[in-house]
Amino acid sequence: MKHRIAVIPGDGIGPEVIEEGIKVLKATAEVVDELEFEFQYFPWGCEYCLKERKMMPDDGLEELEGFEAIYLGAIGDPRIPDHISLRDLLLKIRFGFDQYVNLRPVKLLEGVFCPLKDKGPKDIDFVVVRENSEGFYTGVGGRYQKGSSEHLRYAGISKVFADSEELVTQEGIFSQIGVERVIRYSFELARKRKKHLTCCTKSNALNYCMVYWDEVFKKVSKEYPDVETDFAFVDAICMWFVKNPEFFDVIVAPNLFGDIITDLGAMIQGGMGLAPGANINPEGISMFEPIHGSAPKYAGKNVANPIASIWTAQMMLEELGEIEGAKRVMAAIEDVLREGKIRTRDRGGSSKTTEVGDTIAEKIRNLGC
Ligand code: IPM
Ligand code: MN
Repeated sequence: MKHRIAVIPGDGIGPEVIEEGIKVLKATAEVVDELEFEFQYFPWGCEYCLKERKMMPDDGLEELEGFEAIYLGAIGDPRIPDHISLRDLLLKIRFGFDQYVNLRPVKLLEGVFCPLKDKGPKDIDFVVVRENSEGFYTGVGGRYQKGSSEHLRYAGISKVFADSEELVTQEGIFSQIGVERVIRYSFELARKRKKHLTCCTKSNALNYCMVYWDEVFKKVSKEYPDVETDFAFVDAICMWFVKNPEFFDVIVAPNLFGDIITDLGAMIQGGMGLAPGANINPEGISMFEPIHGSAPKYAGKNVANPIASIWTAQMMLEELGEIEGAKRVMAAIEDVLREGKIRTRDRGGSSKTTEVGDTIAEKIRNLGC
Protein backbone atom coordinates (compact mmCIF):
# COMPACT_ATOMS: atom_id res chain seq x y z
CA MET A 1 0.00 0.00 0.00
CA LYS A 2 1.16 3.50 -0.77
CA HIS A 3 1.20 5.93 2.15
CA ARG A 4 1.23 9.68 1.69
CA ILE A 5 3.25 11.30 4.45
CA ALA A 6 3.67 15.01 5.16
CA VAL A 7 7.18 15.70 6.42
CA ILE A 8 7.93 18.74 8.57
CA PRO A 9 11.64 18.52 9.41
CA GLY A 10 11.46 21.75 11.45
CA ASP A 11 14.36 23.39 13.25
CA GLY A 12 17.76 22.62 14.73
CA ILE A 13 18.62 18.95 14.51
CA GLY A 14 15.10 18.19 13.20
CA PRO A 15 16.03 18.00 9.50
CA GLU A 16 19.05 15.76 10.16
CA VAL A 17 17.26 13.20 12.31
CA ILE A 18 14.17 13.16 10.09
CA GLU A 19 16.32 12.44 7.04
CA GLU A 20 17.60 9.29 8.75
CA GLY A 21 14.04 8.24 9.54
CA ILE A 22 13.10 8.71 5.89
CA LYS A 23 16.15 6.74 4.83
CA VAL A 24 15.04 3.87 7.04
CA LEU A 25 11.44 4.04 5.79
CA LYS A 26 12.66 3.90 2.20
CA ALA A 27 14.84 0.88 2.98
CA THR A 28 11.83 -0.78 4.61
CA ALA A 29 9.74 -0.14 1.50
CA GLU A 30 12.43 -1.86 -0.59
CA VAL A 31 12.04 -5.13 1.31
CA VAL A 32 8.39 -5.23 2.35
CA ASP A 33 5.98 -6.26 -0.39
CA GLU A 34 3.60 -3.60 -1.56
CA LEU A 35 4.84 -1.02 0.93
CA GLU A 36 5.36 2.37 -0.69
CA PHE A 37 5.70 5.93 0.50
CA GLU A 38 5.20 9.30 -1.00
CA PHE A 39 6.80 12.04 1.07
CA GLN A 40 5.94 15.68 0.71
CA TYR A 41 8.12 18.19 2.55
CA PHE A 42 6.88 21.32 4.26
CA PRO A 43 9.62 23.80 5.14
CA TRP A 44 7.71 25.27 8.08
CA GLY A 45 9.30 26.31 11.34
CA CYS A 46 11.40 29.12 12.74
CA GLU A 47 13.50 29.84 9.61
CA TYR A 48 10.28 30.09 7.66
CA CYS A 49 8.87 32.38 10.35
CA LEU A 50 11.84 34.75 10.20
CA LYS A 51 11.02 35.31 6.52
CA GLU A 52 7.24 34.99 6.47
CA ARG A 53 6.39 36.27 9.98
CA LYS A 54 4.41 33.10 10.66
CA MET A 55 5.39 29.56 11.59
CA MET A 56 3.24 27.98 8.90
CA PRO A 57 0.83 29.29 6.25
CA ASP A 58 -2.60 30.35 7.48
CA ASP A 59 -4.15 27.46 5.59
CA GLY A 60 -1.39 25.05 6.69
CA LEU A 61 -3.77 22.66 8.43
CA GLU A 62 -5.82 22.37 5.26
CA GLU A 63 -2.67 21.57 3.30
CA LEU A 64 -1.97 18.72 5.71
CA GLU A 65 -5.48 17.34 5.52
CA GLY A 66 -4.87 15.15 2.49
CA PHE A 67 -2.11 13.12 4.18
CA GLU A 68 -2.31 9.90 6.09
CA ALA A 69 0.24 10.95 8.67
CA ILE A 70 2.68 13.72 9.57
CA TYR A 71 6.33 13.10 10.41
CA LEU A 72 7.87 15.99 12.34
CA GLY A 73 11.43 16.61 13.55
CA ALA A 74 11.57 19.36 16.15
CA ILE A 75 10.51 22.97 16.56
CA GLY A 76 12.37 25.75 18.35
CA ASP A 77 15.02 28.36 17.69
CA PRO A 78 16.54 30.84 20.14
CA ARG A 79 15.58 33.73 17.83
CA ILE A 80 11.86 33.17 18.41
CA PRO A 81 10.24 32.82 21.84
CA ASP A 82 9.34 29.17 22.41
CA HIS A 83 5.82 29.91 23.56
CA ILE A 84 5.16 31.47 20.16
CA SER A 85 6.93 29.01 17.87
CA LEU A 86 5.51 25.97 19.62
CA ARG A 87 1.96 27.24 19.92
CA ASP A 88 1.82 28.38 16.31
CA LEU A 89 3.05 25.12 14.83
CA LEU A 90 3.40 22.10 17.08
CA LEU A 91 0.42 22.73 19.33
CA LYS A 92 -1.58 24.09 16.41
CA ILE A 93 -1.25 20.74 14.63
CA ARG A 94 -1.82 18.65 17.76
CA PHE A 95 -4.99 20.58 18.57
CA GLY A 96 -6.05 21.21 14.97
CA PHE A 97 -6.15 17.50 14.19
CA ASP A 98 -7.42 16.59 17.65
CA GLN A 99 -4.48 14.30 18.28
CA TYR A 100 -5.68 13.56 21.75
CA VAL A 101 -3.30 10.76 22.61
CA ASN A 102 0.39 11.37 23.02
CA LEU A 103 1.89 7.92 23.13
CA ARG A 104 5.33 7.68 24.67
CA PRO A 105 6.88 4.25 25.15
CA VAL A 106 9.57 4.02 27.81
CA LYS A 107 11.56 0.94 27.00
CA LEU A 108 15.16 0.23 27.84
CA LEU A 109 16.72 -1.78 25.04
CA GLU A 110 19.63 -4.14 25.42
CA GLY A 111 23.03 -2.53 25.09
CA VAL A 112 21.80 0.84 26.33
CA PHE A 113 23.27 2.39 29.45
CA CYS A 114 20.66 2.94 32.15
CA PRO A 115 21.46 5.47 34.88
CA LEU A 116 19.52 3.42 37.42
CA LYS A 117 21.64 1.02 39.40
CA ASP A 118 20.70 -2.64 38.99
CA LYS A 119 17.91 -1.97 36.49
CA GLY A 120 17.91 -3.59 33.08
CA PRO A 121 15.68 -4.06 30.02
CA LYS A 122 13.35 -6.42 31.89
CA ASP A 123 12.62 -3.69 34.44
CA ILE A 124 11.91 -0.77 32.15
CA ASP A 125 9.15 -1.40 29.64
CA PHE A 126 6.06 0.73 29.97
CA VAL A 127 4.02 3.24 28.00
CA VAL A 128 2.85 6.68 29.03
CA VAL A 129 -0.42 7.79 27.47
CA ARG A 130 -0.35 11.54 27.77
CA GLU A 131 -3.59 13.44 27.22
CA ASN A 132 -2.73 15.77 24.35
CA SER A 133 -5.67 18.03 23.58
CA GLU A 134 -6.52 19.95 26.71
CA GLY A 135 -5.43 20.37 30.35
CA PHE A 136 -3.02 23.24 30.90
CA TYR A 137 -2.06 23.39 27.22
CA THR A 138 -5.18 25.03 25.81
CA GLY A 139 -3.79 28.53 26.16
CA VAL A 140 -6.84 29.69 28.10
CA GLY A 141 -5.93 32.36 30.59
CA GLY A 142 -4.72 35.90 30.62
CA ARG A 143 -2.60 38.63 32.08
CA TYR A 144 -4.36 41.41 33.88
CA GLN A 145 -2.59 44.67 34.69
CA LYS A 146 0.49 43.48 32.90
CA GLY A 147 3.57 45.45 34.03
CA SER A 148 4.27 46.83 30.59
CA SER A 149 0.55 47.42 30.08
CA GLU A 150 0.83 47.02 26.29
CA HIS A 151 -2.82 46.12 25.99
CA LEU A 152 -3.81 49.29 27.80
CA ARG A 153 -1.59 51.39 25.55
CA TYR A 154 -3.52 50.04 22.58
CA ALA A 155 -6.67 51.11 24.30
CA GLY A 156 -5.26 54.61 24.74
CA ILE A 157 -4.82 54.24 28.48
CA SER A 158 -1.41 55.35 29.66
CA LYS A 159 -1.38 54.00 33.19
CA VAL A 160 1.59 51.75 33.87
CA PHE A 161 0.89 49.29 36.60
CA ALA A 162 3.45 48.35 39.18
CA ASP A 163 4.72 44.76 39.03
CA SER A 164 2.93 44.07 42.29
CA GLU A 165 -0.41 44.80 40.63
CA GLU A 166 -0.05 42.09 38.01
CA LEU A 167 -2.41 39.16 37.98
CA VAL A 168 -2.03 36.11 35.75
CA THR A 169 -4.22 33.06 35.20
CA GLN A 170 -3.70 29.87 33.20
CA GLU A 171 -6.67 27.58 33.16
CA GLY A 172 -6.62 23.79 33.17
CA ILE A 173 -9.42 22.63 30.90
CA PHE A 174 -10.79 19.13 31.41
CA SER A 175 -13.83 18.09 29.43
CA GLN A 176 -15.90 14.98 29.96
CA ILE A 177 -15.23 13.84 26.40
CA GLY A 178 -11.54 14.69 26.60
CA VAL A 179 -10.86 12.86 29.86
CA GLU A 180 -12.97 9.83 29.10
CA ARG A 181 -11.60 9.15 25.62
CA VAL A 182 -7.96 9.14 26.67
CA ILE A 183 -8.69 6.92 29.66
CA ARG A 184 -10.61 4.52 27.44
CA TYR A 185 -7.74 4.45 24.95
CA SER A 186 -5.39 3.59 27.82
CA PHE A 187 -7.53 0.72 29.02
CA GLU A 188 -7.64 -0.68 25.49
CA LEU A 189 -3.86 -0.41 25.28
CA ALA A 190 -3.38 -2.04 28.68
CA ARG A 191 -5.53 -4.93 27.47
CA LYS A 192 -3.04 -5.55 24.68
CA ARG A 193 -0.11 -5.43 27.11
CA LYS A 194 0.24 -6.65 30.69
CA LYS A 195 -3.24 -5.49 31.70
CA HIS A 196 -2.10 -3.01 34.30
CA LEU A 197 -3.07 0.65 34.14
CA THR A 198 -1.91 3.40 36.49
CA CYS A 199 -3.84 6.65 36.76
CA CYS A 200 -1.42 9.54 37.26
CA THR A 201 -2.99 12.66 38.75
CA LYS A 202 -2.60 15.03 41.67
CA SER A 203 -6.03 14.83 43.20
CA ASN A 204 -4.70 15.38 46.71
CA ALA A 205 -3.98 19.00 45.77
CA LEU A 206 -5.97 19.88 42.63
CA ASN A 207 -9.41 19.40 44.09
CA TYR A 208 -11.53 20.00 40.97
CA CYS A 209 -9.88 18.79 37.81
CA MET A 210 -7.85 15.91 39.20
CA VAL A 211 -10.58 14.64 41.49
CA TYR A 212 -12.81 14.67 38.41
CA TRP A 213 -10.18 12.78 36.40
CA ASP A 214 -9.96 10.09 39.10
CA GLU A 215 -13.76 9.76 39.11
CA VAL A 216 -13.90 9.28 35.35
CA PHE A 217 -11.09 6.74 35.61
CA LYS A 218 -13.02 4.76 38.25
CA LYS A 219 -16.19 4.86 36.15
CA VAL A 220 -14.47 3.65 32.97
CA SER A 221 -12.50 0.99 34.88
CA LYS A 222 -15.78 -0.85 35.57
CA GLU A 223 -15.93 -1.71 31.86
CA TYR A 224 -12.48 -3.30 32.05
CA PRO A 225 -12.57 -5.72 34.99
CA ASP A 226 -9.69 -7.68 33.44
CA VAL A 227 -7.33 -4.71 33.77
CA GLU A 228 -5.67 -4.16 37.12
CA THR A 229 -5.67 -0.50 38.13
CA ASP A 230 -4.05 1.81 40.59
CA PHE A 231 -3.75 5.50 41.36
CA ALA A 232 -0.49 7.34 41.82
CA PHE A 233 0.20 11.03 42.32
CA VAL A 234 2.54 12.53 39.78
CA ASP A 235 5.22 13.31 42.36
CA ALA A 236 5.18 9.73 43.59
CA ILE A 237 5.37 8.48 40.00
CA CYS A 238 8.64 10.41 39.58
CA MET A 239 9.98 8.63 42.62
CA TRP A 240 8.86 5.21 41.39
CA PHE A 241 10.30 5.70 37.90
CA VAL A 242 13.64 5.78 39.68
CA LYS A 243 13.00 3.35 42.51
CA ASN A 244 10.93 0.61 40.88
CA PRO A 245 10.11 1.24 37.23
CA GLU A 246 9.25 -2.45 36.81
CA PHE A 247 5.95 -1.72 38.55
CA PHE A 248 4.53 0.05 35.50
CA ASP A 249 2.83 -1.18 32.36
CA VAL A 250 0.58 1.63 31.06
CA ILE A 251 0.24 5.03 32.71
CA VAL A 252 -2.42 7.56 31.74
CA ALA A 253 -1.67 11.16 32.63
CA PRO A 254 -3.02 14.65 31.97
CA ASN A 255 -1.17 16.74 29.41
CA LEU A 256 1.26 18.64 31.63
CA PHE A 257 2.09 15.75 33.95
CA GLY A 258 2.52 13.47 30.97
CA ASP A 259 4.97 15.93 29.49
CA ILE A 260 7.04 16.09 32.66
CA ILE A 261 7.20 12.41 33.51
CA THR A 262 8.16 11.44 29.96
CA ASP A 263 11.36 13.47 30.11
CA LEU A 264 12.26 11.44 33.18
CA GLY A 265 11.12 8.35 31.31
CA ALA A 266 13.45 9.25 28.43
CA MET A 267 16.38 9.42 30.81
CA ILE A 268 15.81 5.98 32.28
CA GLN A 269 15.54 4.48 28.81
CA GLY A 270 18.92 5.88 27.82
CA GLY A 271 18.37 9.55 27.03
CA MET A 272 16.47 11.92 24.78
CA GLY A 273 18.23 10.51 21.73
CA LEU A 274 16.34 7.26 22.23
CA ALA A 275 12.85 8.41 23.13
CA PRO A 276 10.13 8.13 20.46
CA GLY A 277 6.65 9.58 20.49
CA ALA A 278 3.40 9.86 18.58
CA ASN A 279 0.50 12.29 18.66
CA ILE A 280 -2.44 10.14 17.77
CA ASN A 281 -5.95 10.74 16.62
CA PRO A 282 -7.22 7.17 16.31
CA GLU A 283 -9.88 8.30 13.86
CA GLY A 284 -7.88 10.94 12.00
CA ILE A 285 -4.44 12.20 11.05
CA SER A 286 -1.66 11.47 13.53
CA MET A 287 1.68 13.19 13.88
CA PHE A 288 4.85 11.32 14.72
CA GLU A 289 7.62 13.24 16.46
CA PRO A 290 10.45 12.25 18.77
CA ILE A 291 10.06 13.78 22.19
CA HIS A 292 13.38 15.63 22.10
CA GLY A 293 13.65 19.27 21.07
CA SER A 294 15.57 21.03 18.32
CA ALA A 295 18.92 21.09 20.24
CA PRO A 296 20.21 24.13 18.30
CA LYS A 297 23.77 23.76 19.55
CA TYR A 298 24.14 20.40 17.82
CA ALA A 299 22.39 21.43 14.60
CA GLY A 300 24.19 20.92 11.32
CA LYS A 301 27.03 18.94 12.92
CA ASN A 302 25.89 15.45 12.01
CA VAL A 303 26.22 14.40 15.66
CA ALA A 304 22.62 14.07 16.87
CA ASN A 305 21.28 10.62 17.66
CA PRO A 306 18.59 9.80 15.07
CA ILE A 307 17.37 6.66 16.85
CA ALA A 308 14.51 8.52 18.57
CA SER A 309 13.32 9.66 15.14
CA ILE A 310 13.80 6.27 13.55
CA TRP A 311 11.91 4.61 16.38
CA THR A 312 9.22 7.27 15.91
CA ALA A 313 9.01 6.26 12.23
CA GLN A 314 8.61 2.69 13.47
CA MET A 315 5.61 3.82 15.54
CA MET A 316 4.22 5.43 12.41
CA LEU A 317 4.50 2.12 10.54
CA GLU A 318 2.66 0.37 13.36
CA GLU A 319 -0.10 2.96 13.37
CA LEU A 320 -0.42 2.71 9.58
CA GLY A 321 -0.96 -1.02 10.02
CA GLU A 322 2.40 -1.88 8.41
CA ILE A 323 3.22 -4.46 11.03
CA GLU A 324 5.91 -6.32 9.13
CA GLY A 325 7.75 -3.12 8.33
CA ALA A 326 7.44 -1.98 11.93
CA LYS A 327 8.90 -5.27 13.18
CA ARG A 328 11.85 -4.99 10.84
CA VAL A 329 12.68 -1.45 11.88
CA MET A 330 12.48 -2.39 15.54
CA ALA A 331 14.67 -5.44 15.04
CA ALA A 332 17.28 -3.33 13.25
CA ILE A 333 17.29 -0.67 15.99
CA GLU A 334 17.65 -3.40 18.61
CA ASP A 335 20.55 -5.01 16.72
CA VAL A 336 22.46 -1.76 16.40
CA LEU A 337 22.05 -0.96 20.08
CA ARG A 338 22.90 -4.48 21.22
CA GLU A 339 26.05 -4.59 19.09
CA GLY A 340 27.11 -1.19 20.41
CA LYS A 341 29.57 -0.46 17.61
CA ILE A 342 27.69 2.54 16.25
CA ARG A 343 27.21 5.10 18.98
CA THR A 344 26.54 8.79 18.64
CA ARG A 345 28.10 11.23 21.03
CA ASP A 346 25.18 11.23 23.51
CA ARG A 347 26.00 7.56 24.07
CA GLY A 348 29.71 8.10 24.50
CA GLY A 349 30.71 7.38 20.90
CA SER A 350 31.70 9.39 17.87
CA SER A 351 29.46 7.93 15.16
CA LYS A 352 27.73 10.37 12.89
CA THR A 353 23.98 10.84 12.60
CA THR A 354 24.10 9.58 9.02
CA GLU A 355 26.12 6.46 9.97
CA VAL A 356 23.39 5.38 12.38
CA GLY A 357 20.74 5.73 9.67
CA ASP A 358 22.92 3.96 7.09
CA THR A 359 23.58 1.06 9.45
CA ILE A 360 19.94 0.62 10.41
CA ALA A 361 18.82 0.88 6.77
CA GLU A 362 21.42 -1.69 5.74
CA LYS A 363 20.30 -4.08 8.46
CA ILE A 364 16.70 -3.78 7.33
CA ARG A 365 17.74 -4.71 3.79
CA ASN A 366 19.72 -7.68 5.06
CA LEU A 367 17.23 -9.08 7.52
CA GLY A 368 16.00 -11.08 4.52
CA CYS A 369 12.48 -11.25 3.21
C1 IPM B 1 7.04 17.82 24.22
C2 IPM B 1 7.52 19.22 24.33
C3 IPM B 1 6.37 20.17 24.04
C4 IPM B 1 5.28 19.89 25.03
C5 IPM B 1 6.77 21.64 24.08
C6 IPM B 1 7.91 21.93 23.16
C7 IPM B 1 5.60 22.56 23.83
O1 IPM B 1 8.10 19.45 25.57
O2 IPM B 1 6.58 17.43 23.14
O3 IPM B 1 7.14 17.09 25.20
O4 IPM B 1 5.34 20.35 26.18
O5 IPM B 1 4.35 19.19 24.67
MN1 MN C 1 8.25 17.66 26.78
